[in-house]
Amino acid sequence: MTPGRIVDAKDDLEVRLAAKVLAAGGVVAFPTETVYGLGADAFDEKAVCKIFEIKKRPSFDPLIVHVSNPEEASLLWETVPPLASKLIRLFWPGPLTIVLPKKASVPDVVTAGLSTVAVRMPKNDTALKLIRYLGRPVAAPSANLFGYTSPTTAQAVAEDLGDRVELILDGGPTMWGVESTVLKIEGDQCLLLRPGGVTVEQIEKVAPVTRGVPEKTGLQESPGLSKSHYAPWTGFTLFEGPSEALMEELTDLEKVIRERGLSLPRIGLLTFYERPKHPFFETVEVLSKKKDLYEAASNLFQAIRKLDKMHLDLIVALGTPRQGIGLAIMDRLERASSGGKGLRDFLENWKR
Ligand code: TXA
Ligand code: MG
Repeated sequence: MTPGRIVDAKDDLEVRLAAKVLAAGGVVAFPTETVYGLGADAFDEKAVCKIFEIKKRPSFDPLIVHVSNPEEASLLWETVPPLASKLIRLFWPGPLTIVLPKKASVPDVVTAGLSTVAVRMPKNDTALKLIRYLGRPVAAPSANLFGYTSPTTAQAVAEDLGDRVELILDGGPTMWGVESTVLKIEGDQCLLLRPGGVTVEQIEKVAPVTRGVPEKTGLQESPGLSKSHYAPWTGFTLFEGPSEALMEELTDLEKVIRERGLSLPRIGLLTFYERPKHPFFETVEVLSKKKDLYEAASNLFQAIRKLDKMHLDLIVALGTPRQGIGLAIMDRLERASSGGKGLRDFLENWKR
């Protein structure tokens, strides 16, 4: 086995080979329309266990199972209620994952022991072919190390998992850039477990959506929704407010730092469309010059990875509006920043 062999997903033979690897109990990375996934045959327990080992993912975090057509979902779900059928008709193939009670035959490793299973049909030719060639549903989380930013290119997969995965199907940069929306259906209600590619506004045209994970005693509603996630190695902080407020705060703090005779910290700024200037800014990553939130989403994880490689003292992200796909972007930014210090706290403690 050549570690991390990146192959061209346009070559049909390579996709067939990848399906053979899956059929033999192996694991391969493949593109979807959202982010790259790390897949195994969903009904092969041993193969699914390998995913958890490769990603260093805790076993309590359940996987999404990918199907190549809506009918295949009945291999996984006990029943398909009318609301699910409606959502499937509207949003599959596409970035909507639906959580419903599972069939007994779905292995517990896939669902982390939950009585439900998350299923989606990706809108990506390579992903669909891979599932079809295998002839069975494919369980796949995002193809990153657990807790780190999801990969949106084959190269990003190789950076994280290169020597741990046999084959990476390269389908170019993914279209959406943020993961699917995860929606649990309970009767005629939808519970939003993770905002993603399909927006709440779109789903609300079909059924009421309860946002946020309600506090539950015991087992969490969606264990993978741990607060700290998507976190780069560099300190990361989300500044909620207009860029003018950020610049004012930085100017205040700059005075203090200069008075103390300290060196200026090197900050990487991540913005939606603005490009403000400040002596602290080593670089400014603009997610969408034309102020398009979908373009911003598709550039988000790549931009975070790029900043993370620059050995900066801190990454500061300016927020985006929490509308449409902006809700998913803000969710990822909040979680990337949740382990870190706030801006003021960081700069007041600056000692170099
Ligand atoms: O766009 C995506 O969804 C990508 C691509 C590869 O399909 N996949 C992805 O998988 O983001 P992952 O494992 O990184 O995130 C899956 C999320 C986790 O938050 C997990 O807790 C939740 O889905 N999940 C999976 N099964 C669940 C279940 N039975 N009940 C509640 N949440 C579930
Ligand atoms: Mg993930």
